[in-house]
Amino acid sequence: MNSLWIDADMGFDDMLAIMMVNHSKRMIAGCSLVFGNAPLPQVCKNAASMAATFNWTFPIHIGAAKPLVGDLVTAGHVLGPTGLPTLGRALPDADPLPQRAAALAALVQWLENADGKAELLALGPLTNIAILCLARPDLLPQLQCITWMGGGATSGNHTASAEFNAFADPEAAAIVCASGVPFKMVDLDACRQVTVSPADLIGLQKIDTPKAALLHDLFGGYINIGISKGRESMALYDPVAAAPLIDKTTLAFQTMSIAVECAGNLTRGRTVIDASAKGTGATQLGTRANATRIREMALSTLLEAAAG
Ligand code: BDR
Ligand code: CA
Repeated sequence: MNSLWIDADMGFDDMLAIMMVNHSKRMIAGCSLVFGNAPLPQVCKNAASMAATFNWTFPIHIGAAKPLVGDLVTAGHVLGPTGLPTLGRALPDADPLPQRAAALAALVQWLENADGKAELLALGPLTNIAILCLARPDLLPQLQCITWMGGGATSGNHTASAEFNAFADPEAAAIVCASGVPFKMVDLDACRQVTVSPADLIGLQKIDTPKAALLHDLFGGYINIGISKGRESMALYDPVAAAPLIDKTTLAFQTMSIAVECAGNLTRGRTVIDASAKGTGATQLGTRANATRIREMALSTLLEAAAG
């Protein structure tokens, strides 16, 4: 099995994706943090609290605070200052993350020791990964695959054209996409096939532990993002990208050309898909998700964490 590294911006869906991988018993070699759902200092605070609350043992390394080009963009207008909307309880304060090597140095060390069997799951803007591609192209053959939650084949969520992780650093997404490393994009269309709604909170309501109460409020806050927009449910984003790393039958992929628009005024960050072209042959788009199975994986992970 490939050694797995996760790069994340630590919203609720990042946390749930990481918990699903942990729950599957697949080992996480390390994790790097990137700005995104919130500014980087808040992402680090979230990560420290999640690690302390859920006994995460893998090393966490701090990465990019801003995109390669342009100004910092966060999802604060939707998610609030912590990046983690809640029904009440918030993640408890924790000691700051222990001092460790910065993300680039840690990723380099990981790849130098990977024996050609490394795999990356990226759940936020691709800045850390693009920096790796630019700094150490010689190490890229060590990477078997990068799976990324990002992009939107047909529409965006941050703008009409662009998904948030793509919009937050289009140049980084373009660099990684064109790097030649096998790249699997799990876009909005794939993620929107898997939804969660207030009825999914009932399982957590039945468990009488402090962790169940906390997870209930965080999960409820996440579901409310969709409800507050007049929908009946909310798409699960990052867990859909994590699912095929645990069970590859959960998401089908098709090779097609993927490019990222960096120039357009209205279309900056748009992922441009050509299903009729194979491009470099290295880029694949997630197509059909097994929503029942992915929901089951996500909900059972929450229940297990709540009981622990
Ligand atoms: C993506 O953006 C982030 O806010 C979420 O965690 C997810 O990775 C959805 O557009
Ligand atoms: Ca994310």
